[in-house]
Amino acid sequence: MKVGSGKGRKTCLTVTIIFIAIVLLILILAFTVFKAKHPVNTVDSVKLQNFDINLDIAKLKVDLNVTLDVNVSVENPNKVGFDYSNTTAHLNYRGQLIGEVPIIAGHISSGGTKGFNLTLTVMADRLLSNSQLYSDIISGTLPLNTFVTIKGKVTIFGFIKVHVVSSASCDLAVNTSNRTVANQLCQYKTKL
Ligand SMILES: *[C@@H]1O[C@H](CO)[C@@H](O)[C@H](O)[C@H]1NC(C)=O
Ligand SMILES: *[C@@H]1O[C@H](CO)[C@@H](O)[C@H](O)[C@H]1NC(C)=O
Ligand SMILES: *[C@@H]1O[C@H](CO)[C@@H](O)[C@H](O)[C@H]1NC(C)=O
Ligand SMILES: *[C@@H]1O[C@H](CO)[C@@H](O)[C@H](O)[C@H]1NC(C)=O
Ligand SMILES: *[C@@H]1O[C@H](CO)[C@@H](O)[C@H](O)[C@H]1NC(C)=O
Ligand SMILES: *[C@@H]1O[C@H](CO)[C@@H](O)[C@H](O)[C@H]1NC(C)=O
Repeated sequence: MKVGSGKGRKTCLTVTIIFIAIVLLILILAFTVFKAKHPVNTVDSVKLQNFDINLDIAKLKVDLNVTLDVNVSVENPNKVGFDYSNTTAHLNYRGQLIGEVPIIAGHISSGGTKGFNLTLTVMADRLLSNSQLYSDIISGTLPLNTFVTIKGKVTIFGFIKVHVVSSASCDLAVNTSNRTVANQLCQYKTKL
């Protein structure tokens, strides 16, 4: 048996070169056009749906019911679909978690944007234990923070899975006399 005739070697070389070229092309595409990008997570609006306050001046006690409508949109800038996992939107007051709402896992198609209407309700019992609440209510401004992280993966060419993440943290001040959200300041991050 003749090992590697001239013709056979040539074919083998051609196949190898084509194979390397295809691998290079996939790699180049994976790092350019299809390079995984983090989703863009934007808080479009925050509205007070319900704001009931009951000041018991004698007992220095506050009874508070707050419901916020938070409108979040998540944009997928990738050339492929984006699958996000279950997550939770948080409502914080002076560093304390006082409300949360789940966001169920889903899919956003290439270049698409998905909107979420989140209803965040304050868990009053958690708020009541905060000693600063009374003075904040008296001062007329309630500082709140909403925090949403979207985590998930994009799958390039059906087998390269890249994890991406983005989070939005918004500080807002609720004016307790006219019951509106003033001073909404959001920070966006693509790292945890
Ligand atoms: C808050 O809601 C609870 C139950 O829904 C109710 O009992 C309470 O009176 C409400 N407080 C105010 C200030 O509206
Ligand atoms: C996501 O949440 C849904 C509804 O709560 C649940 O059925 C599902 O199992 C969760 N998925 C994961 C991966 O935890
Ligand atoms: C909430 O966001 C959606 C898009 O996701 C938009 O169509 C709608 O007008 C927004 N609603 C409010 C109240 O801002
Ligand atoms: C969010 O609410 C607005 C109006 O309040 C509505 O137009 C929009 O379709 C809703 N979006 C989703 C994703 O439910
Ligand atoms: C809250 O709103 C009222 C009415 O618009 C205004 O007079 C007051 O100055 C506001 N308070 C704060 C802390 O901005
Ligand atoms: C409520 O108060 C805020 C802060 O003073 C102000 O920016 C806003 O225009 C007021 N809204 C209404 C409806 O009076």
